[in-house]
Amino acid sequence: MPYARVNELHRHIGESVTVRGWVTTTRSSGKIAFVVLRDGSGYLQAVFSKRDVPDATWARVAELSLETSVAVTGVVRADARATGGHELTATDVEVLGASPDFPISPKEHGSTFLFEHRHLWLRSRRQVAIAKVRNEVVQAIRDFFYERDFVLVDTPILTGSIGEEAGNLFSTDYFDLGKAYLAQTGQLYVEAAAAALGKVYCFGPTFRAEKSKTRRHLTEFWMVEPEVAWNDSDANMRLQEEFIAAIVARVLDRRLEELKELERDTAPLERVVGPFPRISYTDAVAKLNALGSDMEWGNDLGGDDETLLAREYDRPIFVYNYPKGVKAFYMKENPEDPRTVLNNDCLAPEGYGEIIGGSQREDDHDRLLARIVAQGLDPEAYRWYLDLRKYGTFVHSGFGLGVERTIAWICGNPHIRESIAFPRQIHRLYP
Ligand code: 4AD
Ligand code: MG
Repeated sequence: MPYARVNELHRHIGESVTVRGWVTTTRSSGKIAFVVLRDGSGYLQAVFSKRDVPDATWARVAELSLETSVAVTGVVRADARATGGHELTATDVEVLGASPDFPISPKEHGSTFLFEHRHLWLRSRRQVAIAKVRNEVVQAIRDFFYERDFVLVDTPILTGSIGEEAGNLFSTDYFDLGKAYLAQTGQLYVEAAAAALGKVYCFGPTFRAEKSKTRRHLTEFWMVEPEVAWNDSDANMRLQEEFIAAIVARVLDRRLEELKELERDTAPLERVVGPFPRISYTDAVAKLNALGSDMEWGNDLGGDDETLLAREYDRPIFVYNYPKGVKAFYMKENPEDPRTVLNNDCLAPEGYGEIIGGSQREDDHDRLLARIVAQGLDPEAYRWYLDLRKYGTFVHSGFGLGVERTIAWICGNPHIRESIAFPRQIHRLYP
């Protein structure tokens, strides 16, 4: 008897097959029992008729509880009304692993309980849908860069120089060399690689000891960071626009079922096409003030400001040229207004806030060194980074897209923490 995956059943119409999976729901009229299975590739309703199966089989069906692992045998019927378009006229069921009192019932649970049971909660329909959207987003990212001739460069997680800011570093003892920091970004390293390969990107986990609990921050999150030789800040924003539009289009094209499961209104996602509105930081402050915010020039935009501003637009927006004082040391000074830098954030619509931070990089050795010193960083740790400005310096720009924030936005989840299988936050290390 061949085993079949649920998403292959269209090849077995009229045949008898065995499907292995987990019981997600059961319902019985006393004469007919409906058992829905999940095997990861899809959901399948198996229908048992008391009249047509042996008594022992019927008795096993009656005993099935939530999340029992089973092998169900039956004949595949095409049924347009059924999920996935098929139903199984079941002839037998074998229990592979019992599941007495599965802790997560169909009733409502609080989020603390659910995150304590994250290892089991992953099996729910919503979580399965989010996992599939995540997989699609990640594949879309890889394909986007591969098709455009970027080279993937894997950057270290254990680092000796601070990538972003000293305030939220994780560190660990590193043999006789003192402290190693867990990477906040791979950027400095992809800058070196860009001089070797032109167009590069890194894609991996990054770490920030975020001491507050917010709906936008994890302590471990995935970031994709392209870096492109000869791109200025304007070209950098155009690449971001094309990139975000491509990711959203890919999910709409291939994961509509999952978005439906998540009850995501897809109309706002369909509007995610370039060009995205661009607004300078200075204009953004004026606009925010007009909208009632007491935000002052010189401060960073807070989460509420981002939400307020982005709400004025129907697609992602760029806010560019922030004050030097609130941004990282490596951003290039704006020659037209040295109080600012040539950078941009990209804010997602619908209140999801910043999903990208990007900039043109300071390519002048002496200015970069001055910024490093001014920020109280140790120039010795950046000797290699400064070398890039000594040997064939080049105009270059790049950005970092936060994968979990992007997934939360696309899925329509107000909180970032369901975007990754096992989220890490200040109060969460289990499971
Ligand atoms: O704006 P950030 O700090 O930029 C950088 O790290 C640059 N080195 C990127 C570059 O130019 N190569 O972070 C980039 C993005 C943010 O826009 C956000 O989406 C995400 O990373 N991010 C977080 N996501 C989840 N939890 C956190 N604690 C995050 N911090 C940043
Ligand atoms: Mg940022």
